[in-house]
Amino acid sequence: DHPRRLVVAIDGPSGSGKSSTSRGVARRLGLAYLDTGAMYRAATWLVLETGVDAADQRAVAELIRTAVFTISQDPTGPTIAINGTDVTQAIREPRVSAAVSAVATNLEVRADLIARQRSLIADASAGIVAEGRDITTVVAPEADVRVLLVADPAARVARRHAELGGVVDNEAVTDQVIRRDRDDATVSQFEAAAPGVSVVDSTHLTLEQVINVICALVDDVVPRA
Ligand code: DC
Repeated sequence: DHPRRLVVAIDGPSGSGKSSTSRGVARRLGLAYLDTGAMYRAATWLVLETGVDAADQRAVAELIRTAVFTISQDPTGPTIAINGTDVTQAIREPRVSAAVSAVATNLEVRADLIARQRSLIADASAGIVAEGRDITTVVAPEADVRVLLVADPAARVARRHAELGGVVDNEAVTDQVIRRDRDDATVSQFEAAAPGVSVVDSTHLTLEQVINVICALVDDVVPRA
């Protein structure tokens, strides 16, 4: 185990293998796990559920400001609830994926969720792996290890396709991945690594290998006792 409280920040586009990697690293190092994308998705679920107009930025920000997020940070089975409803499964529905960019580009919502994410990270006594789009740059730029996980678009499309059980045709998945990249790029320039951020390219690596690379980065920064 590591002698001190560790914070590992992992950013990357959809399909880069970010979630499996982050959970694997957290499991291996005995750390908590925070999926910040799940928070944007849960916020989006609430907007859809309450029927608030997603384009009404003030109304959406107010709805989220008063919302209660309940997050389990266990990397083997992370869960998220909003205002008492467990939405762990529901936030993966296509209707949520389709609407999430509108909520994630609301700057008041971002300020709110970033503040919540910072306190969740500060409260993780054993340390935490936090994943998202702006963790290395905005949420936790002081993290012990900061990683930008990248992969060629073709590899990301193939992974997304496999995640969906191969039932959706490849062209539709390609459209989704490319459109999400474009929508997300309006939020932050996550494709370029900030100074001090290690770029890990997962295109030709297995999940196990990517986890090994990141754990080696952790060992470089914080040698084991
Ligand atoms: O990683 P994901 O696909 O679950 O993320 C869902 C959406 O939230 C995606 O459109 C990007 C956005 N997001 C963000 O803007 N900032 C984060 N820290 C995490 C996710």
